[in-house]
Amino acid sequence: MTKALKILLVALILSALAYLAAIFYLQSRDPFIKWDWSKIDLNKVCYPKEFLWGTATAAYQVEGGFTNSNWNWWENQTLPDGKPAVLNHQKCGAADDDWNLYPIDIQLMKKLGVNAYRFSVAWSKIFPYPDSVNTIALRHYQDLCDSLINNNITPVVTLFHFTYPKWFLDSGGFVYQKNIKYFVKFAVVVHQALKDRVRYWITVNEPVVFAYEGYFVGEYPPGKSNPQLAAKVLVNLLFAHVAVYDTLKKLSKDKEIYVGIVKNITQMDPYRRFNLMDNLIAYFADLNFNQAYLKAFKTNQFAFYLPGTINFKAKVPKLHQSIDFIGLNYYSHNAFKFVGDIEKSLNALPYPGEQLTDMNYTVYPEGIYRAIKRVSKLGFPIIITENGIADSLDNRRYAFIRRSLYAVSKAIADGYDVRGYFYWSLLDNFEWNLGYTKKFGLYKVNFKTQKRYFRPGSKAFIEVINLWKQKCLNKSTSYVKQ
Ligand code: GCO
Repeated sequence: MTKALKILLVALILSALAYLAAIFYLQSRDPFIKWDWSKIDLNKVCYPKEFLWGTATAAYQVEGGFTNSNWNWWENQTLPDGKPAVLNHQKCGAADDDWNLYPIDIQLMKKLGVNAYRFSVAWSKIFPYPDSVNTIALRHYQDLCDSLINNNITPVVTLFHFTYPKWFLDSGGFVYQKNIKYFVKFAVVVHQALKDRVRYWITVNEPVVFAYEGYFVGEYPPGKSNPQLAAKVLVNLLFAHVAVYDTLKKLSKDKEIYVGIVKNITQMDPYRRFNLMDNLIAYFADLNFNQAYLKAFKTNQFAFYLPGTINFKAKVPKLHQSIDFIGLNYYSHNAFKFVGDIEKSLNALPYPGEQLTDMNYTVYPEGIYRAIKRVSKLGFPIIITENGIADSLDNRRYAFIRRSLYAVSKAIADGYDVRGYFYWSLLDNFEWNLGYTKKFGLYKVNFKTQKRYFRPGSKAFIEVINLWKQKCLNKSTSYVKQ
């Protein structure tokens, strides 16, 4: 072999190794996993004795009776392309009428065998005006908590779940740090009313989704498409979390409370495992949807970077020290294929053969294990605050629940600190800009009659809770090795 040929061969080998090294580096943050479910015994599950088993809802999506919130305003808006802000001009309206029917809904929870319930408090009902508190609305949440507790169901309260008073929006909302004081004031009033009933507090649900949908893509209120504003809202939501954490802790010196923040994790994977462009798109999507916040929770340093669009950095002092647990919302993973144009390449694709939910999310229950493993690196206890499937045919729900809960059990058995699991959702409800078209409920709802109907696929949830009660409650260890 000539010398030139040898040099060429060495160069080719080195460049191939460099290429592979780049690929593995780009995937190393959260490597893809896939299980052969045909070889897994879904009955081999166990969870700690103190595990929180619950369902999750949000005030605007289930209560009804909203009149003066950012979403009431948004439902009457039109998007720049002329389409209505909410699919087919739907209005949330009465929703599930859970404001009045919660005693019935609590009985539905009891049939599931759960011991907890995650709900949010409607800021716009508590503070119809900046300086006036609706004590009747506060009384409602006290009664709700009392009914839950009387039925051995632990209340878990979310303070901000995407909706706030229209007057707050008109003041600029979370675009301005000066407005955080209104959120703290709301938190103090709610804490004052519920402090003898509630120990688990969530400050903000999914800051990323709120900022991205409302200020980056403009599909949620206030319908902005401004990356700079999105970044400011994001970092101010983190500041708001710290402010509320500090305040609630000071107010609860005599009684231990747990204050957390909810982060949704959607894995961003390359469609073609060894394609460099697919890996780069997945890497940057992950950087801006997952890693930026996990890093901020760990280091108090927040960064929001999109090449050629935004390079936003901010320090959020005490953020890492202001977290008792991470609420983890998990639904699915995304795969990205470079198709010559970056924008078009950001349309997530399912892998060949992957099943889809009615939200066009891929059915990927292994992903909850990946999400737990990754979030566990922060060193906080984890509560799965949302996991569920939109499945109007109810032909995917059973397997999704059993497999997802197996994945949670395996994570616990592998040593990850998971304290609870809340299924999204108890009832079919108002899925934001998609209206009532997505059926997440363990119970189907006829919104004309407000009748609730247990879905056959939901029995998976009851089965696993029963397995926990039969196999794990008398165990000295809090889980069995898989
Ligand atoms: C979210 C919210 C919920 C959704 C649920 C289903 O993640 O957007 O927390 O309000 O309804 O996740 O999409």
